[in-house]
Amino acid sequence: MARCFKTLAAGVVFVVLLVQAPVLWATDADPLQDFCVADLDGEVTVNGYPCKPAASVGDEFLFSSRLTKAGDVTANPNGSNVTELDVAEWPGVNTLGVSMNRVDFAVGGTNPPHIHPRATEVGMVLRGELLLGIIGSLDSGNRYYSKVVRAGETFVIPRGLMHFQYNVGKEEATMVVSFNSQNPGIVFVPLTLFGSNPPIPTPVLAKALRVDAGVVELLKSKFTGGY
Ligand SMILES: *[C@@H]1O[C@H](CO)[C@@H](O)[C@H](O)[C@H]1NC(C)=O
Ligand SMILES: *[C@@H]1O[C@H](CO)[C@@H](O)[C@H](O)[C@H]1NC(C)=O
Repeated sequence: MARCFKTLAAGVVFVVLLVQAPVLWATDADPLQDFCVADLDGEVTVNGYPCKPAASVGDEFLFSSRLTKAGDVTANPNGSNVTELDVAEWPGVNTLGVSMNRVDFAVGGTNPPHIHPRATEVGMVLRGELLLGIIGSLDSGNRYYSKVVRAGETFVIPRGLMHFQYNVGKEEATMVVSFNSQNPGIVFVPLTLFGSNPPIPTPVLAKALRVDAGVVELLKSKFTGGY
C-alpha cells in the first residue's frame, strides 16, 4: 500500500513538473545558428524575426552606436528619456536573447513604475544618483526594495516585477541596462491603468482604487495621447 502511494506521489510530481516546464524554461529560445540578423521587413511571422541571408550581412550587425547619445530629457513630462536598443533598433540581436537600453534623467526625472514581461534586467548607473525601487509580488507581502544607486553601481530587477527609477541627485543621471530577451517589452503602470486604448471603464477603476469617479477621470485626462 505504502509503495503504491509512493509511486502515485512520484507520478503526481512528474506531471506537475511536466506542466510547469514551459514556465520553468521560459526565456528567449536558443539560437540554432551563429546569428540571424533580423529582416525587420520580413512578412513571415515567427517568434522573433526571420533572418536576412547570412551572405548579405557584413560585420556591422554586431555593433551599434545608438547609445552614445543622451536622449532629450526635456521633451516629455517624465523628465527621462529611454533610448531603446532591442531587436527593433538592433537587428543583430535577433534570436540571441539579449538587448539593452540607455536611460537619461533630468534632475527630479523619473522612469515611471513599469514591468518588463519578458525579461530580467541588469544595469549600471553611469553618472548621477538614482533611487531604484522594486516592488515584490504578493509572495513577498508586496515588499518595497530600494536603494540610491550611484555611478559605477549595478542592480538586478527580477523578471516581471514592477520597478522605477527616480533621479534624486543634483545633476542629470544616466544608466545603461541589459535584458535577457531581444524584446523585453514594457508595461507602464500609469499608462496601462489610465491611458489604455480603449479606456478601462471608469467604474472598474473607481471601485478597484477606492476613489470617486472624478479622481479616475482626472487621472485619465493626464494620460490621453500616451504621456
Ligand atoms: C528622446 O530624445 C530623443 C533625442 O533627443 C528625441 O528625439 C525624442 O523625441 C525624445 N523622446 C521623448 C519621448 O521624449
Ligand atoms: C512617461 O511615462 C508614461 C507612463 O507613466 C509612459 O507611458 C511614457 O511612455 C513615458 N514617456 C517617456 C518619454 O518615457
